[in-house]
Amino acid sequence: MALITIESSPEALKSGTRPSDAAARDYCRHLELGDILFIPGIPFDIPQDDLNFLLQQEQSGGAFHKNVAYRTNEDRLTGFAGDNAVDADRTRSIMRAYSQSATKLLSMLLAPYTERWKLDYASYRPLEEDGRDLSLHKRNDLLHTDAFPSRPTNGDRILRFFTNINPAVPRKWMTTSPFDALAQQFAGKAGGCALPKPLGGFALDNAVRGIKQTFRSIGIPVTVRSPYDDFMLRFHNFLKENGEFQKNCPKEYWDFPPNSCWMVYTDMTSHAVLSGQYALEQTYIVSKDAMVTPEKAPVRILEKMVGAPLVS
Ligand code: SIN
Ligand code: FE
Repeated sequence: MALITIESSPEALKSGTRPSDAAARDYCRHLELGDILFIPGIPFDIPQDDLNFLLQQEQSGGAFHKNVAYRTNEDRLTGFAGDNAVDADRTRSIMRAYSQSATKLLSMLLAPYTERWKLDYASYRPLEEDGRDLSLHKRNDLLHTDAFPSRPTNGDRILRFFTNINPAVPRKWMTTSPFDALAQQFAGKAGGCALPKPLGGFALDNAVRGIKQTFRSIGIPVTVRSPYDDFMLRFHNFLKENGEFQKNCPKEYWDFPPNSCWMVYTDMTSHAVLSGQYALEQTYIVSKDAMVTPEKAPVRILEKMVGAPLVS
């Protein structure tokens, strides 16, 4: 795994400098291999007043006592615990602007993906990550690859863009081998995490999936998971539960300095956040058909291992 610094300076990016088509394709390729793309600055404007507002919120018992999510498509905040409507509105408009700026930037940097992603949630992460008291599967200080329990991707990819808005303290991450190596090691009977059952191969699984799909189509909110999504969720939990792996796997450490940005496929790049406070983040679900190195997509890696389709 490597940290690749974007060639154009943050100032050049801010003034609209675009990478060449070849460079943009190369950035996509690095991301797909599990590398982290890094920008040593914030290449768009976030007004200082807005930063101050985010940084000065009361920490516990206040409006920001957990991560706040912004549902981009609904223009709606969740997790905002305060009862001050003015603060909620302001947070929402800051998140909206952040989401738009990040998306404009990524449309330039990762041109092969443009219009081939769905905007997922954005988030504000105001809590110190070191020592957070979370249940095992929610802990982000344990190495894992991402899978969203309520938002299966059907093989599409989870791309996340982060900004450390802490003016003084880095956000510290740890990584180990990427998904392809971890799957080789752990997927299957010997590794401890059962491989997915191929689509179409198991009548009962298909019947259950069919019934769920019918419920969904008439508006009943059930989650329909493909065999791929089912595996990715089990794998996320398996890695967090595996104390031996957490302790003994080879590790690399990364410091993301104050006022810097980075992006990564968190379904490919194993990651854990060890410390840091005050980050903004936007998630994109990128179509698996937009990959420049399709054989590296986790769904293709697993399908190769199983020898059958895992998504419809
Ligand atoms: C995660 O996706 O595990 C959290 C990363 C972060 O908040 O820095
Ligand atoms: Fe994660």
